[in-house]
Parts: sequence; C-alpha cells; structure tokens
Amino acid sequence: MAQPLTILKSSLSTSTARSAIKNVTIIGGGLMGSGIAQVAAQTGHNVTLVELNADILKKAEASIGNNLGRVAKKMFKDNPSEGEKFVAEAKKRVKGCTDTKEAVQDADLVIEAIVEKMEIKHKLFKTLDEQAPQKTIFASNTSSLSIGEIASVTGRKDRFGGLHFFNPVPVMKLLEVVRIPETSDETFNAMMAWGKAVGKTCVTCKDTPGFIVNRLLVPYIAEAIRMVERGDATPRDIDIAMKLGAGYPMGPIELADYVGHDTSNSIMQGWFKKYPENPLFKPNDSVEKLVKEGKLGVKTGEGFYNYKK
Ligand SMILES: NC(=O)c1ccc[n+]([C@@H]2O[C@H](COP(=O)([O-])OP(=O)(O)OC[C@H]3O[C@@H](n4cnc5c(N)ncnc54)[C@H](O)[C@@H]3O)[C@@H](O)[C@H]2O)c1
Repeated sequence: MAQPLTILKSSLSTSTARSAIKNVTIIGGGLMGSGIAQVAAQTGHNVTLVELNADILKKAEASIGNNLGRVAKKMFKDNPSEGEKFVAEAKKRVKGCTDTKEAVQDADLVIEAIVEKMEIKHKLFKTLDEQAPQKTIFASNTSSLSIGEIASVTGRKDRFGGLHFFNPVPVMKLLEVVRIPETSDETFNAMMAWGKAVGKTCVTCKDTPGFIVNRLLVPYIAEAIRMVERGDATPRDIDIAMKLGAGYPMGPIELADYVGHDTSNSIMQGWFKKYPENPLFKPNDSVEKLVKEGKLGVKTGEGFYNYKK
C-alpha cells in the first residue's frame, strides 16, 4: 500500500544517472507493475512485463501506452512530434510475456509486483530462482511482508532486496530500497543506482515492517480511527485538524478511505499476528466491521464517509 500523503506534482524524469542494470523483468502488470514498467521504459531500460495471461497483459500494455501519452503531452508541450517519438520508443522497449522462464533469461533485475500473499510470492520466487541466471538480482515491491521471509526460498539472498515504489509510480518521487542482512554491497549499490536512473529519490532502511513510510503511516491512521471509536472527535474534525494544524494534504480518515479498508486491515492483521505484543499494530474493530459490510472506502462508494452523494 502506498498513499499520496503528498500527491506531488508530476515529477516525470528522463534521468541519465548511470546504472549497470539495463534489462528489467517485472512480474505482475497490475497497478504497481505497470507503473514500474512505464518509468523503467521511459528512462531507457529494456522491460519484460510478465502477466498470468495474454488478456491481462494486453490491458497492462494499453494502460502503459495511455500513461506514456499523458507524460509526452506534458514533457513535449511545444513539440508533439517529439512526444510521439518518445511514446513510440518507450513502448518499443516494453515486451509482454506470459512465460517466466523466457522472461528472465537476460534479466539484470527482476521486480515482483504480484498479489500480497506470502505463499504465492514464495511459489513464484522458487521458480524464478531456478530459471534466472546467477547474476540476476531479485527484488520485491511488497508493502507489508518481510523481504527476508520472501527471499528465504531462494539461493540468492545476497542478490535480493526490496524496491518499494509508491502509487502512482510515475508521479511519486520516492523509492524505498530495503536491504536484508545478506544483501551484498554490490546488490545494494546496483539497486540504488537503478532507482536513481529511473528518476526516483532513494531512501534506505532495514527489513522492518512497513519500511519507513507505511511503518509510520499505518499506525497513525489506526490511532486516528481509535479516536473516532472512543468518540474523542468526529472523522471530519480529525481530518480538518490534521490538514490545518499539521499541514497534511489529506486527513487520516480520508486517507484511510482512499487506501481501502480491506488493504489496511489485512496489513494490520498480518503485523498483529507476527507482533501481538505491539499495541500500534492492533486492528481497529470499526474497520473490521466496515470490511464485513463491504464499505471499503472510496472504491466502493462508502467507508467512514459516503461518496455516493
Ligand atoms: N497498490 C499500492 O498502492 C501498492 C503500493 C506499493 C506496493 N504495493 C505492492 O505491490 C504488489 C502489487 O500490488 P498491486 O496494487 O499492483 O496489485 P494488482 O492486483 O493491481 O496487480 C497484481 C498483478 O499481478 C498479477 N499476478 C498475480 N500472480 C501472478 C503471477 N504468478 N505471475 C504474474 N502475474 C501475476 C495479477 O494478474 C495482477 O495483474 C503487492 O505486493 C503490493 O503490496 C502496492
């Protein structure tokens, strides 16, 4: 999960930072994977995008094409023909694939952006470890799972790390580069250089739950919801307070509705199961109720607020 605490103005980059990583394979072409594929392609990398079947792949490629068109309109306002060239060249760099073996043959870096389920990620990485060349670095874009636990099924923990992008990937400037104790300096430096090469500002942290941003944001949102549960203040007053008093662009309750209560509840459930002694990770009863009622937030039209009106 990632939220635009600051939906920064588009910071599309044609960075020329040097990186040894040229060929990138992205597994999963959903919201995050297609965004990562787009930024990699528009900064000159060869991208192979893997999906479960040709239909999903087609949708992902169409969404990348549309988003590149939007980028070109902004970047080449006064020169539409240059813009068309930019889109055509970036699109040419993205190759779709449904076979992981074929997709990883020339990969310098593989980034996984599939469903947030440990068993499914394990199954994928076990297979990839057998199929990919020795030199290939593996990374996961997981929001809430342990990178070390994901890497544990591979024989390349020294070439494993976290690359945590934020949604929407082409807009959000931040990349969290996560190292596990086994990550080699060479792997870490290569991931940092690649992050810069795709135009992101990289921060680094250990393999700690939620890394930096979500580790702070998720308990903050949960505490705001606890205030509502205790009747200390209304959602609207809490949101106004944090916008006007702390200068945040969105209040915590609005943010919770925007992220989706299913997503944040499953993160809290996972962390609470692993760290039951940490009161910051205790799931909110009212959120569990909202999830049961299908009131997941903006995406279903209702959460703490009603968006149907
Ligand atoms: N959505 C966010 O805001 C956000 C932000 C940062 C990180 N993440 C993380 O990124 C990952 C992906 O999230 P998303 O929001 O893009 O999900 P999504 O559901 O939009 O996309 C996941 C895609 O992976 C594909 N997929 C599933 N299993 C696959 C497999 N074995 N091989 C190939 N493709 C497969 C699915 O078809 C789907 O298109 C998750 O780990 C999530 O925690 C999400």
